[in-house]
Amino acid sequence: MAFLHGLGPLMQAWAREKNARLVPSAATKEREVFGLKFPNPVGLAAGFDKNALVLPAWEGLGFGFAEIGTITARAQPGNPKPRLFRVPEISGVINRMGFNNDGADAVAARLKKLRATDRWPRFPVGINLGKSKVTPLDEAAADYLHSFTRMRDLGDYFVLNVSSPNTPGLRSLQDRPALDALFATVQAVNISQKPMLVKIAPDLTWEAIDDVLALVESHRLAGIIATNTTIDHSAVPEHRRQTGGLSGAPVRTRSTEVIRHITSRTKVPVIGVGGIFSADDAREKFDAGAALIQLYTGYIYRGPALIMEILRALNPA
Ligand SMILES: Cc1cc2nc3c(=O)[nH]c(=O)nc-3n(C[C@H](O)[C@H](O)[C@H](O)COP(=O)(O)O)c2cc1C
Repeated sequence: MAFLHGLGPLMQAWAREKNARLVPSAATKEREVFGLKFPNPVGLAAGFDKNALVLPAWEGLGFGFAEIGTITARAQPGNPKPRLFRVPEISGVINRMGFNNDGADAVAARLKKLRATDRWPRFPVGINLGKSKVTPLDEAAADYLHSFTRMRDLGDYFVLNVSSPNTPGLRSLQDRPALDALFATVQAVNISQKPMLVKIAPDLTWEAIDDVLALVESHRLAGIIATNTTIDHSAVPEHRRQTGGLSGAPVRTRSTEVIRHITSRTKVPVIGVGGIFSADDAREKFDAGAALIQLYTGYIYRGPALIMEILRALNPA
């Protein structure tokens, strides 16, 4: 990705122009979701541009929004390498990155600088927040709060990520009492009412998802991202087994089921993510009720051509 670091304003303008020509009738793909205007509904999922190092590049590649992070209150190195493994036999990836990131203060400074230039993207930017590894679980809410207060003026929407399998105990924040406390703490300081979303695991039971939905509604969260990576590795061939979260094709069906479950129970918008490798996979997510979708593993395997394929299929010229 290093080649994108130097993507200057001229290059960006060129990419925008090229993209506008590549994507027929782009305007008709616009969506308005939780009060934000999205030029198209295909976004970059969290974890790809954790530190917002190449944020200006994503728009030119065809995405309609990008989510940076996961960002934690403290800078942290993440787990030792190797920590990212392709599983090509099943079009999957296993990762145990462990929220390697520069920390909220440094990323906030980077975003502030970028906002002061004309390189800030014209599409919505989400900021995905997590818990620092060194912070005890019972102080998790304060950790998220630190990051949110540093960054609340810099993002268009925010995500409380309580579903990564790579920070010990993090997923227990999806339990009702912990989630109730987290939502209450963050929403109490969300005075400018930035859309606040929660990102959930595909491994939750239907009952646990219903608990999350009740809290999302009572604390007036703006949306749900479904889903993160799975801890179910039954699809992984023996010789590829690794600790971490599994993404890509093996999570596709479960992610779609979770989206369908949520949208059958609430009007709260859902961003669908998990195993999208083609226009048909994207359509499956929209048919399940997703308002927007995000790509990660499919983008690793297929690159920007995947975005174009989905956009064309969404609205053939
Ligand atoms: C290498 C890697 C790193 C990831 N890092 C994050 C992260 O920091 N925060 C997060 O919320 N999700 C993270 N994810 C999860 C993705 O955003 C996405 O929810 C998941 O991979 C399912 O989508 P996919 O099948 O299209 O990859 C990561 C995924 C991968 C493969």
